[in-house]
Amino acid sequence: MQVKRMGLEIAFVAGVLVWFSSAFAKEPIPPAKQAYLRYCSACHGEGGKGDGVVSHLMNPRPADLTQLAKKNNGEFPFMRVIRIIDGRETMRAHGDPDMPVWGEIFASEVPGAMNKEANIRGKVLLITEYLASIQEK
Ligand code: HEC
Repeated sequence: MQVKRMGLEIAFVAGVLVWFSSAFAKEPIPPAKQAYLRYCSACHGEGGKGDGVVSHLMNPRPADLTQLAKKNNGEFPFMRVIRIIDGRETMRAHGDPDMPVWGEIFASEVPGAMNKEANIRGKVLLITEYLASIQEK
């Protein structure tokens, strides 16, 4: 869909801007948070509440990522979140994704074939750990 694609493109630009501006922050920002800001914040918001700058363009709206543990009886669904973010194994990979298939995007960012899979999984894991750290009780 046209609007969805536009949202995605704006999201990438907005994410890179947030990530870039984080380079000038007074406190150094940990790599996991930097990755989140760069790839996810445009849709899911800087604090993960689902209120990113392009969230209003999207239907369904981006999820509130601080509620993942609460929605799973208080336990952060680690493996499920990894699979959702990667996206390559799920139905999403074949349809019209509301959420980008990050496994494919990260794959396209790694030059050459060496250690490609390890690199993708490392990135997904880094971001998943960051999400685990921002869960509301
Ligand atoms: C282009 C906007 C966009 C970007 C960028 C984006 N997401 Fe999403 N995300 C969505 C939307 C929209 C949904 C809800 C999809 C649905 O309900 O079908 C979603 C859903 C999710 C879910 C599922 C939540 C649940 O309750 O099941 C997780 C986890 C998630 N996103 C993580 C991420 C992470 C991590 C990143 C960065 C690597 C990211 N998203 C980047 C739009 C985005």
